[in-house]
Amino acid sequence: MELSNRVVLPAMDMNVCVDGEIEQADIDHYVARAAGGTGLIITGASAVAYPVGATSTKEPGLSDDRFLPGLTALAEAVHAAGSKLCVQSTHHGKVARIDTLNGRPLLVPSEPDYAVDMGALADNTIEELTKMGSVTAGRKPTFHTATADDISWLVETWVDAADRVMRSGADAIEIHCAHGYILGAFLNQRDNRRTDEYGGSLENRARLACEVIAAVKAAVGDRLAVIVRVAGAEFGQEGGLTNEESCAASALFEKAGADAIHVTGWGRNPFANFTDGPLPNRVGAYVDLAAEVKKHVGIPVITVGRVLPDVGEQAIAEGRADFVAMGRQLLADPDLVNKLAAGAPEQVRPCINCYVCVQENFWDDTPLCAVNPALGVSPPLVPEPAEAKKHVLVVGAGPGGLETARVLTERGHRVTVIDKSDRLGGTLWFSSLTTPDNERLLDWLTSEVARLGIEVRLDTEATTETVRALAPDHVVVATGAVRPRPAIPGGDLPHVHTGDTLRNLVLGSAGATDGSRLLRTMGRLGKLSGITKSPEAIRRLTKTFLPLGKDVVVIGGSLVGLELAEWLAERGRNVTLIEPGKALGLPMAMPRRWTAVRRAGELGVVVHREASVSRITADRVEFTVGDQQLSAAADVVIHADGTTSGAPLADELRSGGWSVDVVGDASQVDYIEGAIHSAWEVAAKV
Ligand SMILES: Cc1cc2nc3c(=O)[nH]c(=O)nc-3n(C[C@H](O)[C@H](O)[C@H](O)COP(=O)(O)OP(=O)(O)OC[C@H]3O[C@@H](n4cnc5c(N)ncnc54)[C@H](O)[C@@H]3O)c2cc1C
Ligand SMILES: Cc1cc2nc3c(=O)[nH]c(=O)nc-3n(C[C@H](O)[C@H](O)[C@H](O)COP(=O)(O)O)c2cc1C
Ligand code: SF4
Repeated sequence: MELSNRVVLPAMDMNVCVDGEIEQADIDHYVARAAGGTGLIITGASAVAYPVGATSTKEPGLSDDRFLPGLTALAEAVHAAGSKLCVQSTHHGKVARIDTLNGRPLLVPSEPDYAVDMGALADNTIEELTKMGSVTAGRKPTFHTATADDISWLVETWVDAADRVMRSGADAIEIHCAHGYILGAFLNQRDNRRTDEYGGSLENRARLACEVIAAVKAAVGDRLAVIVRVAGAEFGQEGGLTNEESCAASALFEKAGADAIHVTGWGRNPFANFTDGPLPNRVGAYVDLAAEVKKHVGIPVITVGRVLPDVGEQAIAEGRADFVAMGRQLLADPDLVNKLAAGAPEQVRPCINCYVCVQENFWDDTPLCAVNPALGVSPPLVPEPAEAKKHVLVVGAGPGGLETARVLTERGHRVTVIDKSDRLGGTLWFSSLTTPDNERLLDWLTSEVARLGIEVRLDTEATTETVRALAPDHVVVATGAVRPRPAIPGGDLPHVHTGDTLRNLVLGSAGATDGSRLLRTMGRLGKLSGITKSPEAIRRLTKTFLPLGKDVVVIGGSLVGLELAEWLAERGRNVTLIEPGKALGLPMAMPRRWTAVRRAGELGVVVHREASVSRITADRVEFTVGDQQLSAAADVVIHADGTTSGAPLADELRSGGWSVDVVGDASQVDYIEGAIHSAWEVAAKV
């Protein structure tokens, strides 16, 4: 198999098949990435023995000829778009939810002798728990230890599936030997405690995978490339596969007939280590692991795991990997490769590592992308050229306003953006302090505004007068959320901040009543020195210097409160986090939320759930938890609760006869995802 470049789309379940059959939605999704220049497209995990060993009825099946028309149509479409197709094949073993749903025991090398810590689920809503539980209709899994017959059946079934992949016209098959699925479980010493020739030594644990690889290779010959996906290491539990074992196993896979090794990573407890693997937080997370594997094999090695373009470029240039797989990057922007090839990396819409996409897989739904509303939409969502060109005024330069301006301009409208602050980005700018990955979106939106020549007027507050003076045909209000002071005794004290007053302080635009004189002065000095123009510089500076008292109480433990608590604790503050509800971190997407809650604990944040604040004094916050009266020391109080939508400007303008839409938090507090998605909805209609 020869590819046009070294960029691979790794397997990502789209969950759009109907009873295992590939439909047009899958084809549209993969074709968009193929047409965007990606060298190799790998499908989401497909079940070799479907529905047996499947984790969803929406994943592709490979066990019957009724699946051939869909597979064939996909292969033809991907080829026509200029790429090659690889089908990822697996038996999901101990995570085969459809087996549990259908009352079949889960096929395992040995019965698990450990329980997975599911404590993180305390930070889930009832609705989320219900959705996850409904995938297996609430049934509890049972297990079946693989017998010699099961092992022979599995090898034959895999060969049969590979034959079907070959007949579909695809170019490669990926054999999944990671992520806890059946072959990965056999490979791992914790999951495999067998005493026969399939357990014990690494060679024995790799035997089943090698038998599958050898049998598949014998059946497909050179007509399909055989790629093997293996964890470069497993994390989060003693007995996880080590990199040394992974290297040795990869050498055995090569001997068995593998044509390439795809090095992933896996956190063994999805509720605790998901952000270590398979979807790592860290940029270039597994490049070192892949580089080690590469030293032990003579076949090409693919690296994956937040491989951003420059990281991939370097890994290939240094000979540490032969191909780079970019997953979420290609969900966020299907045209990534073409943009890089055109020498315009700044035009690539960035993934912000928010885990919104994969959260959907936890309850068997189709991934959504926070920054790319077109993901998973079929027929493809492409903004059409405007029928009549208009002058549109966008009020507010946060992500909602800027994305609206971008799409409107692409559609041919003339757009003016005004913002009362001195910079682009709105609250996104501020969020980049606590969440550095958000800065990628800020940079992209800023660069798109420049590329498209969108007129921007900063330090300009929208009133009916300013709007009249600009005489637009249409107005889009994107003024963000309303953040009230706490309506509790002491809520108006000067050391009590809302998101807005805190932002004003950090950015040096505080008014006379925002915080102490020292804080205001520091903010202004920062503004004069230019430091407050760079989120990165503020992040760095505040690690050594932050003119904020030692004891901080954050009221409200949702996304923003939790992020701020963590940020302040990282800067040496004693932080108490008071949350009225049971769960922290809502509505952060689950894996990110679970990690953030754990990290806050590691940083020493003291958390009180189901707590109700009764009074704020000059140096304490008093609150109750059940029938307990408690208080916490507070030099500073941050009120991160009670954020609501609101667009009084829109009402005012409408009553003055203007045609108005509202996007982003001003319309509904739905964070970056809501801001970008509502921007597309509105911008498509104007
Ligand atoms: C610390 C922190 C961390 C966060 N982290 C995340 C995260 O990780 N993920 C996530 O999804 N969300 C996060 N958020 C929330 C996210 O930043 C917001 O939901 C998002 O920016 C909303 O976008 P928006 O365009 O609707 O409004 P905003 O970004 O709030 O922008 C509104 C803009 O309108 C301007 N404006 C208001 N009134 C006027 C007027 N009358 N005239 C002119 N201009 C006006 C403002 O100056 C502002 O620039 C975080 C927020 C904070 C505070
Ligand atoms: C929505 C989603 C679904 C995924 N499904 C699969 C899958 O079916 N099989 C698999 O091996 N990996 C799966 N992965 C993991 C990716 O293949 C990839 O290894 C991971 O996302 C890390 O790469 P990235 O940081 O470039 O996204 C999935 C990832 C995402 C985001
Ligand atoms: S949803 Fe978030 S993590 Fe997933 S691809 Fe989009 S931006 Fe990246």
